[in-house]
Amino acid sequence: MTLQADNVQSTLQEIESREAEFWDTATSHLTDDDLQTEKVNPDQDALDRSRVALLGRLVGKRVLDVGCGSGLWSVFMASKGAEVWAVDISPQSVALTKRRAELNGVSTNINAAVMSAVEMDFPSGFFDLVHGQDIIHHLDATSFGKEVARVLKPTGRAVFSENCANNPLLMFARNNLCGRWGIPKWSSDDEYPLTRARLAQFGRFFKHTDVEYPSFLFFHYLNAKFFRYESDLVNRLVGGADRAIWAYLPFLRQYSYRQIICCRNPLLLPKDEPTEANPDGVAPHGEKGFLVALIALLALGVILWRLKPGEPAGHATRIDERSE
Ligand SMILES: C[S@@+](CC[C@H](N)C(=O)[O-])C[C@H]1O[C@@H](n2cnc3c(N)ncnc32)[C@H](O)[C@@H]1O
Repeated sequence: MTLQADNVQSTLQEIESREAEFWDTATSHLTDDDLQTEKVNPDQDALDRSRVALLGRLVGKRVLDVGCGSGLWSVFMASKGAEVWAVDISPQSVALTKRRAELNGVSTNINAAVMSAVEMDFPSGFFDLVHGQDIIHHLDATSFGKEVARVLKPTGRAVFSENCANNPLLMFARNNLCGRWGIPKWSSDDEYPLTRARLAQFGRFFKHTDVEYPSFLFFHYLNAKFFRYESDLVNRLVGGADRAIWAYLPFLRQYSYRQIICCRNPLLLPKDEPTEANPDGVAPHGEKGFLVALIALLALGVILWRLKPGEPAGHATRIDERSE
């Protein structure tokens, strides 16, 4: 039993040291110029706008930015009057957060430290708000959910921007194509896009968990991976296609690659204890809806392609007949 517990602990340490090394390297190219010019952009970006709205008024709030990276959101929240505590497992990321705070004149409002997100050095009920971008999917969702619920005040909330594993086509591309044939892979080996089951494990530690899809990002990522935004025409086409799907086919929004999560009212005892029959403690959720919708869309596309506006269905046949 003890041996097993030791093994689990050493595995967690190994994962954390691999993550620290990966993110130390991934952020090493950032210059002072990057740290000064890169900004959160709620006016242009629907994901940023939705997150800013969920964070609410920040003046005087004690906020934790967990997995802060190079501190983009820590600095944004500090500039809106929050007292920010920023933590990350990567020493280089924490150093960059401090530097970004200095360059943007908010270093007195930010305390940044190297710390594990699943075992934080803060007292229980310390924070009004927890914020995180792309962090849940790097961690064990149960340990992290428990820790976030612990450090939040009973009336507190946690707001996350995360990737999303709901779209089977994107997951197929990620699992089989990225990192091969010159297609870039940006992720570390220890992360996987956030599945519904893992989000539910995290959400068991909160009374309410809401998910939003403020924009539909699907073709955008295919473009990033396969064309690297190099063609203006492709950029415009994919932007239009994603926006049209978000606007006219709202049932497909859940298959976007990005999601915004808001968890409210932390619980001392998690709800829906997992059982042997259901180890995740959540209803199994297939993605059949996506495939049915995709087939329906393809069928609709074929019908529209065959039927030109203002012409009867037999038009093509009649042209063939005339030319014979
Ligand atoms: C995808 S990056 C996101 C960084 C930042 N939030 C952003 O959006 O720019 C994931 C971050 O999580 C951090 N991380 C990974 N595992 C962690 C852990 N166990 N504790 C704290 N931070 C961790 C990594 O070092 C990295 O900075």
